Amino acid sequence: MTITLSSPLDMHIHFRQDAMLDLVAPLSALHFAGGVIMPNLIPPVNSVDRLLWYRGEIDRALAGAAFEPYMTLFFRDYSEEELIAAKPHIIGIKLYPAGATTNSDSGVREITAMNHVFAMMEHHGIPLLVHGETHGFVMDREREFCEVYRYLATTFPRLQITMEHITTADAVSLLDEFENLRATVTPHHLMITLDDVVGGLMNPHLFCKPIAKRPEDREALLQAALRAHPKLMLGSDSAPHPLDKKECPGCAAGVFTAPIQLPLLADLFDRHDSLHNLQAFVSDNARRLYGVQPPERIVTLERSPMTIPDSYGPVVPMWAGRTIPWSVVS
Ligand code: DOR
Ligand code: ZN
Repeated sequence: MTITLSSPLDMHIHFRQDAMLDLVAPLSALHFAGGVIMPNLIPPVNSVDRLLWYRGEIDRALAGAAFEPYMTLFFRDYSEEELIAAKPHIIGIKLYPAGATTNSDSGVREITAMNHVFAMMEHHGIPLLVHGETHGFVMDREREFCEVYRYLATTFPRLQITMEHITTADAVSLLDEFENLRATVTPHHLMITLDDVVGGLMNPHLFCKPIAKRPEDREALLQAALRAHPKLMLGSDSAPHPLDKKECPGCAAGVFTAPIQLPLLADLFDRHDSLHNLQAFVSDNARRLYGVQPPERIVTLERSPMTIPDSYGPVVPMWAGRTIPWSVVS
């Protein structure tokens, strides 16, 4: 049993910089034709100069691989001139609430104070990508943030807004309520709940933000993904941290899945008789929603087992050491 995918896209990835970039960028390029690169470096990618520098670093790390990095800027109070200068180089601007996650200290403190920037982005057709969590109780952060999504979607009806890495049934419902909302979802949030993170022995390699939620949330996400909901895209949020930053007190948030997500998804869709929808979920929806045309790549998977490596350099992937039924053959 095999399945052939045309130009898979990962619409939310952390590539980092320096040695980590050199390690992880080629791993994404093995299976993907492109991806949306997150800007939460230290310092953040929040100027055109820094964006062009980062793009150069990524191109160097990719060493000619047929992988299109769709760049993002870190949201701040940009002037109209800055937005106009950035537009040809970016797929969107990523908004982090201040302190919500890794390297987000310079994020937004008050959403409505940025309305002039949202209005300019709407006018210039620049998508807004959002880490949608409040500072409330950890399990309620995304649900509480749905009010902000509602506010943005109605106040700026022509602004294309991507709810990044959704984890709740509430966020899935918003997709059908507002024309200008779409979302990414990670493979791990389709497969795990909070129980997998802390319900037994604590697993730091499944700890991420937003944290995995309840079984009914996972089920809502899974059903939307399996039918390739037309406004839902694969975005792995693959977020590498070295082992010593994960297996320690103060464990960093992030699950590393870049090299294993297509086998994980092929298995998941296969078990639910939904392989016919995998192409739309991993590529076609993103191409349509963002109007992108990635390089032509054919990736073939087959139902033959692979054992997930214990590590990639210093980074431990999700489910390290586990054998899964599907693998990439080319
Ligand atoms: O778990 C996460 N890790 N969530 C994020 O939003 C950021 C990411 C990271 O950069 O490590
Ligand atoms: Zn992320």
